[in-house]
Amino acid sequence: MTMLEPCQTSYDLAARRAEFPILHQQVHGRPLVYLDNAATSQKPQAVIDCLQHYYSQDNANVHRGVHCLSERATAAYEAARDRVRAFIHADRREEIVFVRGTTEAINLVAQSYLRPRLQPDDEILISTLEHHSNIVPWQILCRQTGARLRVIEISDAGEIDQASFQRLLGPRTKLLAVGHVSNALGTINPVAEMIEQAHTQGVPVLVDGAQAVPHLAVDVQQLDADFYAFSGHKVYGPTGIGVLYAKQALLEAMEPYQGGGDMISKVTFEHTDYNQLPYRFEAGTPNIAGAIGLAAALDYVDAIGLAAIAAHEQQLLEYGSDALQRVPGLRLIGTARQKAGILSFVMEQAHPHDISTVLDQFGVAIRAGHHCTMPLMQRLGLPATARASLALYNGPDDIDALVAGLQQVCRLFGDR
Ligand code: ALA
Repeated sequence: MTMLEPCQTSYDLAARRAEFPILHQQVHGRPLVYLDNAATSQKPQAVIDCLQHYYSQDNANVHRGVHCLSERATAAYEAARDRVRAFIHADRREEIVFVRGTTEAINLVAQSYLRPRLQPDDEILISTLEHHSNIVPWQILCRQTGARLRVIEISDAGEIDQASFQRLLGPRTKLLAVGHVSNALGTINPVAEMIEQAHTQGVPVLVDGAQAVPHLAVDVQQLDADFYAFSGHKVYGPTGIGVLYAKQALLEAMEPYQGGGDMISKVTFEHTDYNQLPYRFEAGTPNIAGAIGLAAALDYVDAIGLAAIAAHEQQLLEYGSDALQRVPGLRLIGTARQKAGILSFVMEQAHPHDISTVLDQFGVAIRAGHHCTMPLMQRLGLPATARASLALYNGPDDIDALVAGLQQVCRLFGDR
């Protein structure tokens, strides 16, 4: 097999890579090629510096102290909220709730918003593409309330079947919960259109944006999403921090998710008055450093520009799709017309776990398995896939290294 020519681009890839210290190391004697970005992305020096600065200069609890460090920590934490608001174009800072990640955001909506509003035989609508974190919280809720989970079908290419969506959306539907971008296949779902459809029937919509926010410009007001969730660690920020965006009117009408410090305005043994938004949903000491680090990550992404990042990743996705299809015995899984930078595949010769073990020996990190989407794998008739997922610091040379590793798989397990 001959290597493809690197794709032409004006994107300053060398400058981007230089900003990520972790990338400059060898793994098993080969330069690290990190293609597991859908699991978690690496952190730029700006985020690492920001965390170091916070812990070495400003660390204190927020909203509690009148001393200087607490005031600095509080100012930085609240500035991070403003940063997130601007990044996703929310109307108000009260609509930004810091959570642990997308998973916690979805559980919060399930328990605080939907649970009190559900009757037996009401329906929650999701799609076959969903990550377990957008399935299991709804199943728990169904067990608690007698409601039913309905699942929109997909095509073999991995696109949502719009006819199935139309059929299932009905008077019993109390919420549509759908991923913006599939973590397993990369499909970009037409969420704006789906939200519009759902709203014509008075159905609110939660969008799982975990895999979208690092790759696409998101405007929650333009989408008219009722709830939008994402995680910091996939968008070059720290782990353990995420965001739930919710329209203010919905948050106002919701019960708290957890009780504790900071979410109250007055407590007696008889009664508690809750704090104003968004603090009512942030019980306990929050992940202060995480929020501040996330804001630094969003600054970093904005300085490059999501349009430039998306264009670079799309070019790389095309290059990678062409290159992988030339590997004997390899089949791409997920061929939607609108895709983000995810290359899921299987090989006739080898199980995905064997593929990823061989690639690791080449210094190439990918993920293999069900990608927390077991029902999707079942629909596709596969136990697992191998998955290379792209980020702003990947380039054609990373794809070439991946292909070189896959050629070794062919040699070891036999050409087909
Ligand atoms: N949801 C993450 C992934 O797709 C962990 O790998």
